Amino acid sequence: MDNRTFYVTTPIYYPSDKLHIGHALTTTMADTLARYKRMRGYDVFFLTGSDEHGQKIERKAKEAGVTPLAYVDKIVATFQHLWKKLDISNDDFIRTSEERHKKVVQALFKKIYDQGDIYKSEYEGWYCTPCETFWTDRQLVEGNCPDCGRPVELVKEESYFFRMSKYADRLLQYIEDHPEFIQPVTRRNEMVSFIKQGLEDLCISRTTFDWGIPVPIDEKHVIYVWFDALTNYISALGYGSGDPKFEKYWPSAVHLVGKDIMRFHTIIWPIILIAAGIEPPVTVFGHGWLLVDGGKMSKSKGNVVDPLVLIDKYGTDAIRYFLLREMPYGADGYYSEDALILRTNTDLANDYGNLLSRTTSMLNKFCQGQIPAPGEEEPLDQELKNIAKGLPEEVDQALGRFEFSAALGAIWKLVSKANKYIEETAPWALAKDPSQTGRLGTVMYNLVEAIRISTVLLSPFMPNTPAKVWAQLGLTEHLDVQNWDSILSWGKTPVGVKINRGEPIFPRIEEEKENIAAPAEEKKVTAENKNQAQAEDKEAVNLIEIEDFAKVDLRVAEVIAAKKVEKADKLLELRVRLGEEERTVVAGIALHYAPEELVGKKIILVANLRPAKLRGITSQGMILAASQDGKLGVLTLDRDIPSGAKVK
Ligand code: ME8
Ligand code: MG
Repeated sequence: MDNRTFYVTTPIYYPSDKLHIGHALTTTMADTLARYKRMRGYDVFFLTGSDEHGQKIERKAKEAGVTPLAYVDKIVATFQHLWKKLDISNDDFIRTSEERHKKVVQALFKKIYDQGDIYKSEYEGWYCTPCETFWTDRQLVEGNCPDCGRPVELVKEESYFFRMSKYADRLLQYIEDHPEFIQPVTRRNEMVSFIKQGLEDLCISRTTFDWGIPVPIDEKHVIYVWFDALTNYISALGYGSGDPKFEKYWPSAVHLVGKDIMRFHTIIWPIILIAAGIEPPVTVFGHGWLLVDGGKMSKSKGNVVDPLVLIDKYGTDAIRYFLLREMPYGADGYYSEDALILRTNTDLANDYGNLLSRTTSMLNKFCQGQIPAPGEEEPLDQELKNIAKGLPEEVDQALGRFEFSAALGAIWKLVSKANKYIEETAPWALAKDPSQTGRLGTVMYNLVEAIRISTVLLSPFMPNTPAKVWAQLGLTEHLDVQNWDSILSWGKTPVGVKINRGEPIFPRIEEEKENIAAPAEEKKVTAENKNQAQAEDKEAVNLIEIEDFAKVDLRVAEVIAAKKVEKADKLLELRVRLGEEERTVVAGIALHYAPEELVGKKIILVANLRPAKLRGITSQGMILAASQDGKLGVLTLDRDIPSGAKVK
């Protein structure tokens, strides 16, 4: 191993079911570290995979009437699909059913057996015959099987045992000598006190099921799943086969895991390695639970959140951002769709996306669509530059401690400061004064720099976003200003580059109630920011092409029924006819129209708007209305035209 290699892993997940956002969290963390280290020039190996053996999967396959392998093949394909959609850049995907893995597990078992650290004995436990499962004393619920509630019997089973107890002191010493081994420190303390209570030898074989790796010296037995599973971290590197990957990447490993499987990774795994004469991994980092409404996700509670649905709805980078930003260091975090929308709108649409949008709009308006040369400096500029100056180091430190949220928070200090800098410098005012051209250049140049630096720093977190930003800033080909070294000093952006202002990179997610023609809430604006908003509005007028307008499918629709939406005083539920077709539309006009006033009217409907759910009612379109100063009028036709007719 040399110190420019970096090996990062996720747990290998059980292919007993599709994965949920909890799994996506660990994998996104690992991907971010992998991308970050690659950007820093490390030789990175990033591994994920699937943990396919065991009684549970054997039973599920039987229920489905297929072989265990056929059963897991299908589910593993869904893992790989999810990782692709989430832009996970793993270098390998290990399946424990693969031959390359089996060989290593068996060799490791044999090695430890030959040196006398594995011995045959009897395992005693509570057996539930219908469930084919062993339980320990503590797992029983009122003396019965915790799964099915039926009585259990005490049985003895011949098993192989691993002499873990022998290594407890060496493990404690290792933990003491390597403070970076178990992180966060609260988890280290938990693990240490657990070990100090005394370790028992571990039962590492089973005879009650077949779907596993056979014990090499005794084909009646299969190897216990955790001995099998943990070994993936070195089997994927070709341990024992002369593969140079093992020499290269081991033991630089960082294992990212949830707190549920800390003990396996910080006690069993290092002891297996120590026994086999292999260095333990550098770090095991255990993050908290991602909780949802109702606590932990589970199928029976019906609160499992499918990341694919969210990716399709909100985009990969928004999901990744949310997971990394919302998860507090070392503690549990919470997911809700509302929180996701709020994060996306606040941080991505309002702060970061809007910074790009305002900057490119002003470059078009005031600088002929080019990145201008900087001119006169003012003290204000220094504040912005100072934040940018300390940022790479701050992000590096935070990621070194697995503080993803803090790293993003640091980047957001620059994003927020840049937005504030626009207000402080008022480029629209500078643009009116010909003597301020140099100063305007400085301000606009600095804004581009702030966007550039934050975008480079964000690239490991949100891998899709940078290309969009570079395209809008005209920097796609300028690879030399997209790398780490280029953000260590201010002023690398080339002058005179032509920009290509485009669509907002993070459009606001309209909350359900805004997805209709409702009068916008009057914003409470002070005189000062009203002026500024007006000034900005003017320069933000963007001309569109006829093709853009043609994207909106406007139709004449006849209202055939209307009623109030219960418990929503602004909403009306309309039934409308468009030629042959009928639709339901929810409109925020109840304060302005009584339901009966609308029936029989021909109105204008945006017919190709993505349907939205409002108060449980799916609204299939939006009706057009004009409003000002608290008044609202729905658009109708000047003469009679059949419903369904196109408006253009
Ligand atoms: O344990 N919040 O696989 P598994 C945060 N095969 N993380 C979560 C989570 C949640 N709600 N739910 C799952 C296994 N995770 C073994 C691992 S490794 C040699 C073998 C993540 O499919 C978290 O990383 O049950 C947790 O440790 C892992 O998924 C468990 O995945
Ligand atoms: Mg689990």
